[in-house]
Amino acid sequence: MSLFRLLAAFVLCIVSIPAAAQTIAQVPKGSTIVASAASPSDTIHVDLTLNGEGRIGYIVTRLGKPVINESRLGFLLTDAPELLRDFQVVSKSTQSFDQTWEQPWGEYRTIRDHHNELTVNLQEKDKLRRQMTLVFRLFDDGIGFRYELPKGPNLTHANIADELTEFNVAETGTAWWDDAQEWNREEYLYRHTPVEEIGFAQTPLTIRTASGLHLSFHEAALVDYSGMDLRRVQGRMLKATLMPSSMGPKVSRDLPFATPWRVIMIAPDAPALYKSAQIILNLNEPNKVGDVSWFKPMKYVGIWWEMHLDKSTWNSGPKHGATTANAKRYIDFAAKNGFGGLLVEGWNKGWDKDGDHDWFGWGWDFSFTQPYPDFDLPEVVRYGKSKGVELIGHHETAGNIANYEKQLDAAMSLYQRLGVHAVKTGYVSDAGGIQALGPDGKIHFEWHQGQVMVNHHLKVVIDAARHQVAVNPHEPVKDTGLRRTYPNWISREGQRGMEYNAWGDPKNPPEHEANLVYTRMLSGPMDFTPGILSLMGKGNTPILSTLAKQLALYVVIYSPIQMAADLPENYEANPKPFQFIKDVAVDWDDTRVLAGEVGDLAVIARKQRGSSTWFLGAVGDEKERHFDVPLSFLQPGRSYRAEIYRDGPNADYRTNPRSIVIEQRVVRSGARMAMRIAPGGGAAVRFVALGK
Ligand code: NOJ
Ligand code: CA
Repeated sequence: MSLFRLLAAFVLCIVSIPAAAQTIAQVPKGSTIVASAASPSDTIHVDLTLNGEGRIGYIVTRLGKPVINESRLGFLLTDAPELLRDFQVVSKSTQSFDQTWEQPWGEYRTIRDHHNELTVNLQEKDKLRRQMTLVFRLFDDGIGFRYELPKGPNLTHANIADELTEFNVAETGTAWWDDAQEWNREEYLYRHTPVEEIGFAQTPLTIRTASGLHLSFHEAALVDYSGMDLRRVQGRMLKATLMPSSMGPKVSRDLPFATPWRVIMIAPDAPALYKSAQIILNLNEPNKVGDVSWFKPMKYVGIWWEMHLDKSTWNSGPKHGATTANAKRYIDFAAKNGFGGLLVEGWNKGWDKDGDHDWFGWGWDFSFTQPYPDFDLPEVVRYGKSKGVELIGHHETAGNIANYEKQLDAAMSLYQRLGVHAVKTGYVSDAGGIQALGPDGKIHFEWHQGQVMVNHHLKVVIDAARHQVAVNPHEPVKDTGLRRTYPNWISREGQRGMEYNAWGDPKNPPEHEANLVYTRMLSGPMDFTPGILSLMGKGNTPILSTLAKQLALYVVIYSPIQMAADLPENYEANPKPFQFIKDVAVDWDDTRVLAGEVGDLAVIARKQRGSSTWFLGAVGDEKERHFDVPLSFLQPGRSYRAEIYRDGPNADYRTNPRSIVIEQRVVRSGARMAMRIAPGGGAAVRFVALGK
């Protein structure tokens, strides 16, 4: 047992439990089970196998039925023989863990981490006799496992050419996935295919099996390693494929270290799958940043949508959006409507064309401390503070982290001096277009989710925390639950957000958000920037949504910062639906997915943190959808005023998107709420507790 594991066992007061009882897995001929474990309620079993060549495999079953057939584990190294065969078990142990912890902000105030852990120490029998430890954590709704590579005489540094982890999906089914390692980073429409037609996919990748089981594949605690994509090899066999690096191997690290957790969420239906994403947080380490109460979950406005509509520009000139006067106009609007923040993009030097170079994919001209002359940064901050509206900083890097890292500390110090507590960062460049300084002093082009960027993001988050700044990256590294460890990592983009409804070709289809809930959103908060009440993108092109759906997004797509993304004048023109955006909360005690199917429907209720008020949001897809859900989340015996914003009877995103019914009803816990969601529609409800 390494010192690390010994310490962990000590600190967590782990109790030993007997190894899982009987085996139910289908073990292929030639393989033998060498270790087994079960989840706390015996729902999920994992068996570890070795075959005649000493190759390691694992098998997952749920309630006796195969979920993952025997799948191999191991590594390819660039400068040493593969870690794949010839293994034997040296020792193994199991232990159980049950602890409830609190989130400083989030979808749930408390989260229970209840799992059993199986640790198996393996060693090559001959030749190099290198060691490898596998740790499995079994929850009742999924598993996580990771490799630990201890330092030994024949392995002190790992140069990983690829990880050989397989996920051999046992049952056929339907998969929702988006393309990996393509030019547009993580911003692809979801595909919806049989499992057997998955290509090269990002995670989370979600599957509904023929028998109705819901699986999602992802990773947790991606630290100092390269992001994992999944490639279908043949049949239903998915294989890990790490993001490349132009500086050498995909991962390069001194030993000992542990890989990120490979996670399989396993749930009986789509609503339960959403909740099983708690596994991602449970597999991350507790808060290392300490108190982050200087960050307050909030709604914010921005000098932002107007640039995406081409009404103003990021760069300087006659159409410059980030002027002092414009910022004050937004601050007045935010203050009047109770929003806590103002994002200003294009405030800093570097957005102008420099010879042949536009900022995009270049980024060498960006200053993160010098404002354009028509933007009086201290004055905007002062004016905002006098009205209770804090500036949200902006660092667009164009993927040039060499230029950004040079200025990082000065940039964060500036925000700290000004009392700015959040920054949106951005990495707009094509995939493989990150400019990073290599150890050779030269610029290397890297990937958004490779080890270099994984380390860069954490460096920014840690530096920001030292300056009491929270971070919201766009074109980010995927979310793997690190907000638990670094709770100043508040949100991120990492899929198609609202901006695609300004200029996207195609725009986001009506099913997009019903896809996001059960895929991207399993990984963590998304800065989707909802609330376009004009329902119009650039050049007055319609977006594919009803009015009620724009409101529903505030509840359905979780983020502790939520933008009221439309232009102030569009809110002023729509005061009645706008009321919901003013009322809706951003921080929650509890979340319940009441009904839903991947890609079709999501009905989510959330309880405002520290309040008796509940909100419900529902989104559908291009078809008319219906839901009929019990209001059992409301406190029994109490009456609530339900303020309902629903699609009008003839609403339809194609023909009648603005039709909305706004009405009030008194409801109680025992009642049900039934509603029709129009094609491209949604629904939003606030439940305000009445009397006592
Ligand atoms: C892409 C971001 O997603 C968007 O929100 C931002 O406005 C632009 N980059 C410019 O930084
Ligand atoms: Ca659909």
